[in-house]
This record gives sequence, structure tokens and C-alpha cells, in this order.
Amino acid sequence: MSSSTYRVVDIHTHMYPPAYVQLLETRNSIPLIRKFAGAKEPRLIILPAEAESLDKITSEDPDKTSSHLPGRPVTTHYSSLSQKIHFMDSHQIDISVISLANPWLDFVASEDAGETAKSINQEFSDMCATVPGRLFFFATLPLTAPPETLLAAVGHVRSLKYCRGVILGTSGLGKGLDDPALVPVFHALAANKLTIFLHPHYGLPSEVWGPRATEEYGHVLPLALGFPMETTIAVARMYLAGVFDQVPELRLILAHSGGTLPFLAGRIESCIVHDGHLVREGKAGSGRRTIWQVLREQIYLDAVVYSEVGLKAAIDASGVDRLMFGTDHPFFPPLNSDEQGEWESVTWNAEAVRKALGDATDCGRAVMGGNAIEVLRLHEDS
Ligand code: URA
Ligand code: ZN
Repeated sequence: MSSSTYRVVDIHTHMYPPAYVQLLETRNSIPLIRKFAGAKEPRLIILPAEAESLDKITSEDPDKTSSHLPGRPVTTHYSSLSQKIHFMDSHQIDISVISLANPWLDFVASEDAGETAKSINQEFSDMCATVPGRLFFFATLPLTAPPETLLAAVGHVRSLKYCRGVILGTSGLGKGLDDPALVPVFHALAANKLTIFLHPHYGLPSEVWGPRATEEYGHVLPLALGFPMETTIAVARMYLAGVFDQVPELRLILAHSGGTLPFLAGRIESCIVHDGHLVREGKAGSGRRTIWQVLREQIYLDAVVYSEVGLKAAIDASGVDRLMFGTDHPFFPPLNSDEQGEWESVTWNAEAVRKALGDATDCGRAVMGGNAIEVLRLHEDS
């Protein structure tokens, strides 16, 4: 662990606790966990882009040994608390703010969602309590539940000692995050000082990747491009719908350094002021808060962008006091070295901070941990 004055905090780090794994093991369509003949570990199959290869292998012979299995192996990194702590220790991470990974509870039947969320959030809370001060968490909301159950869930998670916010996908209640029906939920989250960690899952429609993608390009296109575009589009829709003005206390941390928002904010602004419809409706006038202002006032960005080029754009857009280091563990393990050792997906992000902000500088330390401690109140133990 690092010294007491300088703390490294990982705010983008997931877990699938055992109860969630069991839930996925019972399912026949994605998201699911399935065993395949000849494979040591069961496979986690969650991405829409993986459904096609799952269908193919299932229609061939499910018991046939194949070298081209869909999804990723479920290693101990997905649900073991001691493994998470080992990962933290081996990468000099002092504190992790853990969250359930995608697709959260998006697929859970309405009548089950409230109880499922409650037990998963309690499981996260209990994990944090076993290592006081080292783990906090973003809770999961039962978005498919009736509105009153959803609002009650916000009340429940705010009472959990180590909860500092909620992880949220982009589908909202089924119509995206610009849905007016979500505004009461945003108000409740803001009133309870629960920060949203906005994270993609659905990407873009698979036709976008072309006919060769499934066989030849692995997960590169949906993960590298689909995920960030999904986040970008979700936040642009929230902005255009006026959500940030309607709920000025709302705070969001955007995964993957805001997708492409830092790069495209200027273009979004230009398209707004040149849009006849928005101008006629008085939505492009001078009193308007620009997307640049929202980026500096209501949005934080993680530093999971793997290069100082993207990181510098994120810093320019939101400010160095609004960036927070993350790892995306347990995703992107090393494929050619020991998983118990160093992960280059982690060292690339730490290296990007060093290259963008210098070695052992105040700004670098703020991004590596100081900002998260302040913003997410990690010095408070309730
Ligand atoms: N990172 C995530 O958080 N989820 C994925 O599905 C893949 C990478
Ligand atoms: Zn992630």
C-alpha cells in the first residue's frame, strides 16, 4: 500500500457476487454463464455481440469441444473478495469502489427486481464491511421494478454505510436516460448525494460492425468503439432533454473518460447553434448552459482510456479535479502472463496519468486517488 498521504483509488472495478453468478447460471439466453465441453472454466456470455456465436455453437453440438468459445472464462477474479484484495495489493491500489458489472439487473422480471437488488446490494455492503476502509461500492438499482419499488431502492442504498452512488446503464426504464419518467429517480439520487457511475453495455447495433466482425474481429469493435459511443449518445440525449438543468445537483461519473464526449463536445455545440429547429424553439439561445459547462459542473470522468492522448482531452474538457483512476477489473486480464501478477490494462492507465500529468505531481496524485476521496467522501465512514 502507498503512504498515508497519497492514496490510489480505483473507481471502475467490478464484481459479480456469488448470488448474481447463480442467477446467470440458471439462464438460457444472454446474459448467462454456461459450461462447455473441454473448457476448464464456465463462460460468461453477456454482450449482444456474443449472442450470435452462442447461437452458432449451440446449434452445432453443445458438447463438442471447440477452440472458439463465446464470452470469457469466469475466473476467481469475478466473484472472489480475496482475489479482489490480492489484485488491489499487487497493483498498489489502496481503495476500490466496487460495482456490479453489466448488464446489472436489466434482465430481471419486474416482480423480482426489488428483492434481487436488495440482496445484491446487501452482499456488496457486507463485502465492504469485511475490509473496512478498503472497499466502498456503487449500488445497483432495480430499473425493471414498479416506480415505487425503484424509489424505495434509492432509500435503501443510501442507508448502506459503504454505498457512495449507483452504477447505471444507458437503457434507463427502457427508453434511455432522457426519459421524463426517470427525472424523479435522478432527483432522489441527487437529494441523497448518490453519484451515478454511468456505464455502457449495449453498444451499437451489430450490423454496424459488418459481416466479418463475429468471425474475425473478436470483441474489439463493440468494446473499443460501441461502448464509448453508447455512453456519448446517452449523455448527449440527457443534455438535449435538459436533464442537467432540471436536476442541477445530479452528479455523474462517465465510464471510459466519457466515451467520446471530450472530443465531440465542440461538434455537439456547433450542431446545436446551427439547428433551425432548436433555434426556433429558443433552445439554442445565449442563456443556455453549454455542454462544456455541464462537463465542468455536473460530470466527472474516469481515467480508463489507456493513453495520454485521450486522457489529456478528458482533462481539458472536465478539469484535472474531475478525473478519477480506474482499472475495469476483472475485464481485460493479461492473456500471456500470470493473472495473479501485473495487469497491463492497469499499468497502461497509470502510465497515461504519469505521461499526461508528470511523475508524482499533485495533479497526478489527484487523478490517481485524491479526487475520488473528495468527490465520493471516502474519508467518511458512513
Ligand atoms: N468492461 C466491462 O465493464 N464490461 C464488459 O462487458 C467488458 C469490459
Ligand atoms: Zn467496466
